[in-house]
Amino acid sequence: MNLPFTEPFKIKMVENIYKSTRDEREKWIKDASYNLFNLRSEQVFIDLLTDSGTGAMSDKQWSAMMVGDESYAGASSYYKLKEAVKDITGFDYFLPTHQGRAAENVLFSVLVKEGDLVPGNSHFDTTKGHIEFRKAKAIDCTVDIASDTNAWYPFKGNVDLKKLEDILKNNPAEKISCIIVTITNNTAGGQPVSMDNLRSVGDLAQKYGVKFILDSARFAENAYFIKQREDGYSNKSIKEIVAEMFSYADGMTMSSKKDAIVNMGGFIGLREKELFLQASTYNIIYEGFITYGGMSGRDMNALAQGLYEGIELNYLESRINQVNYLGTKIKSYGIPVLEPFGGHAVFIDAKKFLPGIPKEEFPAQTLAVELYIEGGIRSVEIGALMADRDPVTRQNRYPALEMVRLAIPRRVYTNNHMDYIVAVIKNVFERRSEIKRGVKIVYEAPIMRHFTVELEKINT
Ligand code: F0G
Repeated sequence: MNLPFTEPFKIKMVENIYKSTRDEREKWIKDASYNLFNLRSEQVFIDLLTDSGTGAMSDKQWSAMMVGDESYAGASSYYKLKEAVKDITGFDYFLPTHQGRAAENVLFSVLVKEGDLVPGNSHFDTTKGHIEFRKAKAIDCTVDIASDTNAWYPFKGNVDLKKLEDILKNNPAEKISCIIVTITNNTAGGQPVSMDNLRSVGDLAQKYGVKFILDSARFAENAYFIKQREDGYSNKSIKEIVAEMFSYADGMTMSSKKDAIVNMGGFIGLREKELFLQASTYNIIYEGFITYGGMSGRDMNALAQGLYEGIELNYLESRINQVNYLGTKIKSYGIPVLEPFGGHAVFIDAKKFLPGIPKEEFPAQTLAVELYIEGGIRSVEIGALMADRDPVTRQNRYPALEMVRLAIPRRVYTNNHMDYIVAVIKNVFERRSEIKRGVKIVYEAPIMRHFTVELEKINT
């Protein structure tokens, strides 16, 4: 008998969670204007809002925090992190930032100008926000198969090379800020990008004289999928695969809150000194001096350790298998899910789950609210609310995928929690025909509205 993938750790400290009643939840979610971001965490039983900054740090990370060097300049913690970044990513130049979007802000301050184009696979919402805020345009060149939730394809995060080359061919290089490839592709369902695709994007970037940046929040999970699914990589270590992935790019932005398993932190990695010098000025303005950039010394120490823990094969195996366990069980009840399952989350296809709710009534948000009411699970809508309005026409954008994301925090929940989640979703699925109407917006911000949107239930 093959031994199952088990967690390569045991639990040293626990945090109690409150099991609320349905009546309490109905009141709380109404008070929160049907926006799950507005809930207090004590009102949530299982929090699948995000896998970002919600992981459990190890004893080694906590002990590294105790010896953090809090010097303003030249802290040993900075050098420790710089060495870890160089060792794992290969980038010589590095700037710490307080989180991923801060890295985007700093780097895009150098690269992105009004009227520019930024092609890539589906940009994450803050990435798109930073681009659109600078009056440039993010162009999604993800492969078409990514929008077919049933199609099994090993690398649904890939860039469609033809779409990308058309943009590069038909625009002067000065108009392209950079190409951004997100690994794994979060918005398309936590789907990986193949090594072959990264190599080809790198070749195109060179051919057209354009910079290639990796949005690397889930780089280790991407490497794990390459090891599992791509010819020629099964015998390579995760560290070797990671090194090759980064070797094709000119730089990277990183939200360390995901695969580096810290609660806060980020960085920029760069190959060229000139770009590093330009970005350093913005880092000082927005984040802090270049040797701490918005992070305390202890946080840099925890991150240096977390980067290594995040690329351990045993850890990645148990992590990806937990997500797979959840997805497989949900699917076994006929519930429509995006396949293959992503690295960090299971995505429910809300259009298929609630076919009677028109897109204008936000089916994914409606479903997310129902999951909360049923069992205190907080998930997040990845659909029309998040897609926002078109910045020029101000019309609602309705993306091909209208999904509820169940993001699994790292090293936090057990498979008993996964079974609980499955039961909650199954109960809602069984009463889905009773859910006849969705929600409508009563307040929205001009950009990135889903964080603060206020909604009302539409009555039948
Ligand atoms: N890039 C990707 C692919 C992300 O998923 C995120 C954050 C960021 C950049 C921004 O990083 O949060 O550290 O500023 N994603 C979180 C999520 C919030 O829930 O998927 P940040």
